[in-house]
Amino acid sequence: MSQLQLEQVRKSFMNGEVEEEVLKGVNLTLNKGEVTALIGSSGSGKSTILSIAASLQPLSKGRIIFDHQNLVELKPEQIRKIRAQQYGFVFQQSHLVPFLTVEEQLSLMLDIAEVKGSKYDKQNEIKNVLEKVEMTHRQSAYPASLSGGEKQRIAVARAIIHRPKVLFADEPTASLDSKKSNDIMQLIQELTHSLEMMTLIVTHEEEMLEYTDRVVKMSDGEIIMVN
Ligand SMILES: Nc1ncnc2c1ncn2[C@@H]1O[C@H](COP(=O)(O)OP(=O)(O)O)[C@@H](O)[C@H]1O
Ligand SMILES: [Mg+2]
Repeated sequence: MSQLQLEQVRKSFMNGEVEEEVLKGVNLTLNKGEVTALIGSSGSGKSTILSIAASLQPLSKGRIIFDHQNLVELKPEQIRKIRAQQYGFVFQQSHLVPFLTVEEQLSLMLDIAEVKGSKYDKQNEIKNVLEKVEMTHRQSAYPASLSGGEKQRIAVARAIIHRPKVLFADEPTASLDSKKSNDIMQLIQELTHSLEMMTLIVTHEEEMLEYTDRVVKMSDGEIIMVN
């Protein structure tokens, strides 16, 4: 079974002369087809775990196992490729490119992920993903004309268009009102189940846990509860 596993992950930062340990031996497994929520108070280390799990920043100690490899031992170019092809990202802000239409943003993502081969028809992939996020009618729109909720739907589409195995989302609903937050969370959960992704979502909103399959709670750099 496909998994992404953090084993005894430690991370320290230098705070002036003092070394501060912000992750104190974290063990975390993401499973296929499951949304794992990462909760905990501000500063507890949620974003640090997410970015280390996604190989966006180095760890101080520990292992990250993905597809039977310890990613910590791979070369930067190998990591870049895994990130571009097998991971998808959603953040608090949608980070859409202002001068590209919805369709062009998605097309660019396929180029970055180097999705090739005869079974991939670019226009078809774009059409399919826009249907999945119910945004077909906004295909030719520029970001400035989209609402906050619509922007985040396109951000989700862009995160999944290359069919990643893992989806990372750091507070994806923090800029949205409650109704739109629910919609986005529900969308992410449905996509996680139907596309069998391993999804890690950082959230501090209690009501969003309804749309997650497993909850991991952090406190002061440690996991204190899993259920
Ligand atoms: N690049 C960094 N340099 C120094 N300290 C950092 C850095 N990134 C995070 N930290 C510290 O690590 C702790 C955890 O941060 P973070 O993972 O962002 O928490 P959360 O996402 O749970 O709010 C905080 O005390 C934060 O100040
Ligand atoms: Mg954070």
